Amino acid sequence: MALQDKGDKTMKKIEAVIRPEKLKDVLAAIDKVGYSGIMITEIQGHGKQKGLTQQWRGQTYRVEFLPKVKLEVVVEDSQARKIAKTIEDSAKTGEIGDGKIFISPTDTVIRIRTGEEGDRAL
Ligand SMILES: Nc1ncnc2c1ncn2[C@@H]1O[C@H](COP(=O)(O)OP(=O)(O)OP(=O)(O)O)[C@@H](O)[C@H]1O
Ligand SMILES: [Mg+2]
Repeated sequence: MALQDKGDKTMKKIEAVIRPEKLKDVLAAIDKVGYSGIMITEIQGHGKQKGLTQQWRGQTYRVEFLPKVKLEVVVEDSQARKIAKTIEDSAKTGEIGDGKIFISPTDTVIRIRTGEEGDRAL
């Protein structure tokens, strides 16, 4: 009964950090697969290279953080792999700094307007 009230299906949150210039391509690709909602945030960060070194007017500068875009999509478990793979394929250039995808369980979701909970609130 309690499980029914909260919807039947378990869910995952996909957080993808991508190159800002890939945002349009990624959105078009996941739109074809289908998803119900998305959050988009402009962020700064670094991965294992810890930024990059640039030359300007003969001087060397260290850029610690680079601009990226973070996408967050919460979906039913059964959709998570497909969405993640679509993001991976559409965000990839093969160069350092292409980004990363994190997938984690989502306990529940509440639609504020209706009080619906769980996968039915997606
Ligand atoms: N372990 C991590 N935890 C949190 N955020 C991360 C992590 N790794 C990468 N990120 C985020 O992803 C962005 C892009 O990372 P990036 O693609 O450079 O990862 P990488 O591991 O260095 O891979 P590559 O060797 O392809 O550059 C970073 O700017 C940061 O915002
Ligand atoms: Mg990197």
